[in-house]
Amino acid sequence: MASTRPFFCGNWKLFGSVAESVALATGVRDAVAGVSGAEVAVAPGFVALLPVIEKLRGSAIGVAAQNCHFEPKGAFTGEVSPGQLADAGCKYVIVGHSERRQLFGETDAGVARKTRAVLAAGLAPIVCVGETLAQRDANQTLQVVGTQLEAAVLELGEAELLRVVIAYEPVWAIGTGRNATPDQAREVHGYIRGRLAEKLGPRAKGLRILYGGSVKPDNVAGLLAQEDIDGALVGGASLTVDSFATIVKEGTRA
Ligand code: PGA
Repeated sequence: MASTRPFFCGNWKLFGSVAESVALATGVRDAVAGVSGAEVAVAPGFVALLPVIEKLRGSAIGVAAQNCHFEPKGAFTGEVSPGQLADAGCKYVIVGHSERRQLFGETDAGVARKTRAVLAAGLAPIVCVGETLAQRDANQTLQVVGTQLEAAVLELGEAELLRVVIAYEPVWAIGTGRNATPDQAREVHGYIRGRLAEKLGPRAKGLRILYGGSVKPDNVAGLLAQEDIDGALVGGASLTVDSFATIVKEGTRA
């Protein structure tokens, strides 16, 4: 059972035109309108952020960006700052997704800088951590996740740490159709909660720790039924209204 109000975020990655993103956002808004007790967000591509935010204005659905730069402004061609995202109306920024770490060379140190920058702009970072298959096979999962947490969030002050959302996303489960089992996920979520509790004591229960990696309508209930799994970061299955709305509903009921 989630320890707090469950949170479901759809990560649309590099998919969708502006019109398709607005249509998907509208469909999600309508499909989950009757769901109480969950927090829902969507993360469109940059060019669709403003029209999606406009479309969702007045609804309970939040909008997340998928990335940002760590500097507030300057000569950084091609980058977008957390302040600009806040100005556009975003509530969250996904930080340190494994695709950014693996394909775009993001380091723990860079993820830490982005996390701080997002918090400084008044937004909530969704900080992604997770091990590769080789690391899991070598029994290094908790050590890897621990190092990522130490770099990105455990050095934050308490007030800032309380505003962070963590997403545990085993790299081998992302986009592969092979989700972590509820037991595998529970072990890592419990570890993450423990590390947060070292800093926050019982208040660590208030932080959301999402699971991500091949979450689907038919596996979300088993995952969300676990202690310390407080929601899901959903990629592929968030690209259609039906599957994402079903995930929100099944996960909230779990
Ligand atoms: P997936 O992606 O649900 O398609 O595995 C999850 C993510 O990358 O956040």
